[in-house]
Amino acid sequence: MSLLKEKLKEKISIERPRTEKLNKEFGNVKVDEVTIGQIIGGMRDIKSLVTDISYLDPFEGIRFRGLTIPEVLEKLPKVPGAEMPFVEGFFYFLLTGDIPTETEVEDVHQEFNSRKTVPDYVFKIIRSMPIDSHPMTMFATAIMSMQKDSIFAKKYHENLKKGDYWDAYFEDAMNLLAKLPEIAAFIYRLKYRNGEIIPGDPNLDFGGNFAHMMGIAKPYDDIARLYFLLHSDHESGNVSAHTGHLVASALSDMYYAISAMLNGLAGPLHGLANEEVLRWLHGVMDSMGGKIPTEEEMKAFVYKTLETGVIPGFGHAVLRKTDPRYTAQREFCLKHLPEDPLFKYVDLLYKVVPNILLEKGKAKNPWPNVDAQSGVIQWYYGVKEYEFYTVLFGVGRALGVCSNIIWARALGYPLERPKSLTTKMLEDIAFGKK
Ligand code: MLT
Repeated sequence: MSLLKEKLKEKISIERPRTEKLNKEFGNVKVDEVTIGQIIGGMRDIKSLVTDISYLDPFEGIRFRGLTIPEVLEKLPKVPGAEMPFVEGFFYFLLTGDIPTETEVEDVHQEFNSRKTVPDYVFKIIRSMPIDSHPMTMFATAIMSMQKDSIFAKKYHENLKKGDYWDAYFEDAMNLLAKLPEIAAFIYRLKYRNGEIIPGDPNLDFGGNFAHMMGIAKPYDDIARLYFLLHSDHESGNVSAHTGHLVASALSDMYYAISAMLNGLAGPLHGLANEEVLRWLHGVMDSMGGKIPTEEEMKAFVYKTLETGVIPGFGHAVLRKTDPRYTAQREFCLKHLPEDPLFKYVDLLYKVVPNILLEKGKAKNPWPNVDAQSGVIQWYYGVKEYEFYTVLFGVGRALGVCSNIIWARALGYPLERPKSLTTKMLEDIAFGKK
């Protein structure tokens, strides 16, 4: 058994009784009340999901397993000669809550290595799609096509015990995650680099191998690691994580769940936003003749934009402060590309937009989110095809969603099935008739 699986098994035996006790002995304890506004308004803020993988504090931002992003970056084992931690070690950490040793990181690396060969039919399926298919469609299709290999789906029909579901989901997750960098890089090279595919290098780590297969030199390997880590999880109420959780709650296997998760991520109100920010930024640059504006000129531009539209990349459903994922990428930019004109635009926007939004009472959260920065870095290092950015987000998000789904099966979370009401019922409640 791999070190990761052994550790996970140990953790599950500790965690299961906690959930069972809460459910059995405290099942009637009320956590929250729900308003009509929340029911109609996308279930905003309703406390109805559980995850220990990450928690999103509105004023502090995300913590993975209790650690802030700077703490994660500092504590996790780093790839030799690189600034960023191993994705393999980060996945170990997400899944178990423990900082892995170098041996444990190496063990995950070997596990991924032994499972990473993408079946040839997957490449054939991607190649057979119209070349103008969106890369997210290609990505989700590639994952769906491998569903026939699901260990859970097979074992379920062989009467797998409920207590062992997690084990089969874990195996599916490992098999799937190991293949994602190659599938993603394949889609990129096929669509945007004349189909000149670069084979993987088994000696490289998850992020390093992805950068290698993308054909992009250092420090893109560190960008890949940072990007996958930052986008991995944002507690479980966001559309992609929640979709994955919901689909897997029907005991649909990991392939169905992760493919569905990607379909949710592909929406412009979710993972596609980073593409929209960059397109908008280039429009801003063009309209300013490419020169770096003064703060006053940028302010004037923002006021004018707000007369008819919004500033993409600012605001968030939960966050009420600058997204720490934005800050982590900003720090990377300050170190590696401080003079990049696009970054200068983003930085100027950071200086002027929040105050203007506050002054105009335009947004509950006037601060920038992760999407306001991520495209800038990709663009600078040569990934200029906006529509690919969401695939990168998807590779990262799969790490978190797989972890959440494994734990949901380990803790025996049931089929998700909220109750609906009719509009008339809500009116009756509102007007005091019920
Ligand atoms: C995410 O990372 O999923 C986005 O910030 C959206 C969200 O948290 O709702």
